[in-house]
Amino acid sequence: RTLNWNPVMVEKQGFKHFMLKEIYEQPGVVRACLEAYLNDQWEQEELKIQNSKFKTQNSPIRLNLPADFYTDLQQIQIVACGTSWHAALVGKYLLEQLAEIPTQVQYASEFRYAPSPLTPNTLTIGVTQSGETADTLAALEMEIRRRQALAIDYQPRLLGITNRPESSLGDLIPNIIDTHAGIEIGVAATKTFSAQLVAFYLLAIDLAYHRNTLAIDQLEKLLNGLRQLPAEIEMILESQERYIEELAHNFAETQDFIFLGRGINFPIALEGALKLKEISYIHAEGYPAGEMKHGPIALLDAKVPVVTIAMPGTVFEKVLSNAQEARARDAQLIGITPMDEKDAEDTFDTLIPVPHVDEILSPLVTVIPLQLLAYHIAARRGLDVDQPRNLAKSVTVE
Ligand code: G6P
Repeated sequence: RTLNWNPVMVEKQGFKHFMLKEIYEQPGVVRACLEAYLNDQWEQEELKIQNSKFKTQNSPIRLNLPADFYTDLQQIQIVACGTSWHAALVGKYLLEQLAEIPTQVQYASEFRYAPSPLTPNTLTIGVTQSGETADTLAALEMEIRRRQALAIDYQPRLLGITNRPESSLGDLIPNIIDTHAGIEIGVAATKTFSAQLVAFYLLAIDLAYHRNTLAIDQLEKLLNGLRQLPAEIEMILESQERYIEELAHNFAETQDFIFLGRGINFPIALEGALKLKEISYIHAEGYPAGEMKHGPIALLDAKVPVVTIAMPGTVFEKVLSNAQEARARDAQLIGITPMDEKDAEDTFDTLIPVPHVDEILSPLVTVIPLQLLAYHIAARRGLDVDQPRNLAKSVTVE
């Protein structure tokens, strides 16, 4: 199967590039994905239960997955490529921290030739926005064959997360979470990534609910936080794009970038580096901030900017002290961090402020300035942002 989306069918609506338009579509995309799956009656039902002490079978999330999907689930493995692989890394964090399910993430191109040992209670998730990536499909086909050989009913143990249920992935796998992101034209994925993150939040919360691993107040806090995300993303777009565009002027000739993050924002550091590489052709590396001292620090000097994601929470002080190690090597420090955080203000040369959101929800806000930074640096360099050299929107060959 081939992609049947035709760029001329979709307009840029006044944006210079599809990528910028798609970055701006993210509040709507996050909202659409939440609306598709949040069970609005849940809170009322919960209140009734708390009053009457009856137990409900209703999850706050409606993913329309079969009942046996939830039975005896012991571990999860996720296969994906590119940006979808980064979404899977955030997913691992959520599935482990919220639903307490051990989770592995593997590149589909590696997994297909060296799969992890299979157990009947392993759920395999394939993440692919196009639903057509050859390596991801091959890894999932292999999972079906392996389960068939052991006479394991594979249907409840496979899940696809995609923006195109009407794809080869949709043909292969009965259980699909449709991310509802709409057509994405820019080769560098932006809105489809955000939608994949939302899908992982919903899946992790749903599994946590079924496994009883979250208290009701934690659940409510997460659900309320998710509902506020579209407005938080809008706020960043409105208040920061001009500033990031100006900032990008300083980096049009830069040759190397480092992106640092920890915990749930480590995959976002990887994604920020990937976005910059893909469309600006600037060498960029993403690292977990605590790992910098084990090698990458040797690369640092005044010519290598270091972009650090520092959100208050479990690793805030640690990340700031990692950034200070970079300062000692004269690197220019750019912080993605909330406004009015004194320690962060003292640490970074340049701040790109983001709203104060719960650490666990923060990837959906921290990724936005990184997308804008990559976009504006590439645009400043006069590059073909929507069709970067050597890259394809969907890689349908091995
Ligand atoms: C290509 C695209 C990337 C994308 C990757 C995986 O390399 O250029 O932007 O992340 O494929 O695509 P998928 O459709 O499987 O998410």
